[in-house]
Amino acid sequence: MKQYPNVFIFDHPLIKHKISILRDRSTGMKQFRELIEEITTVMTYEAMKDVALVPVEVETPLEKTVGYRVPEESVAIVPILRAGLGMVNGIHRVLPTARVGHIGMYRDEETLEPHEYYCKLPDGIGEKKVFVVDPMLATGGSACDAIAALKKRGVKDITMMSIIAAPEGIEKLAAAHPDVRIFVSTLDRCLNEHGYILPGLGDAGDRLYGTK
Ligand code: PRP
Ligand code: URA
Repeated sequence: MKQYPNVFIFDHPLIKHKISILRDRSTGMKQFRELIEEITTVMTYEAMKDVALVPVEVETPLEKTVGYRVPEESVAIVPILRAGLGMVNGIHRVLPTARVGHIGMYRDEETLEPHEYYCKLPDGIGEKKVFVVDPMLATGGSACDAIAALKKRGVKDITMMSIIAAPEGIEKLAAAHPDVRIFVSTLDRCLNEHGYILPGLGDAGDRLYGTK
């Protein structure tokens, strides 16, 4: 795959360890959900490296000093429903003040075309640093359309976080939105004829919510 300056693919033993359990077809719903959250938390440390801080005065038991805080209103998480919801707690664990917006996209199983069916965003979304989350970046159609929908509503600073991506998805997203930073925990081989990632983990939404 071509190299893109805005694409970051993790090479971390903890992620490799957790992804192997996540992929396993015998991993049950509870452990699957926990792993999605844990991998998201590990990714968040890197993806939030450039989050803006403001200095604040802190009084320790011994003296006053200067500390730094992420302003409460400055960050939003936007999960792409359904499967993106599984990543929200992974970020909230380390930044509980992040606001949450929701965007609903489903992929037509025949055409693989994404369709938006829901969008509710926090007030002032245009001024926030927005982290769009979806565990699977397959053809890239859902992420591209969700990001286009956010830009139409005034969002300027966007980071995409996905657990597993196909090269096809990264290429499509990087070409369509070169201003968006893309963090992917694991790059897989390719898509199959049904648009599923290989080796992948199957259908993330079904495995998170037990719908099949
Ligand atoms: C899955 C996944 C992504 C999308 C990725 O969602 O969670 O949103 O497919 O595929 P793409 O890159 O080819 O667009 P799905 O449409 O199955 O909906 P769900 O989350 O409700 O299960
Ligand atoms: N959506 C999924 O949940 N899994 C895939 O492999 C591709 C799209």
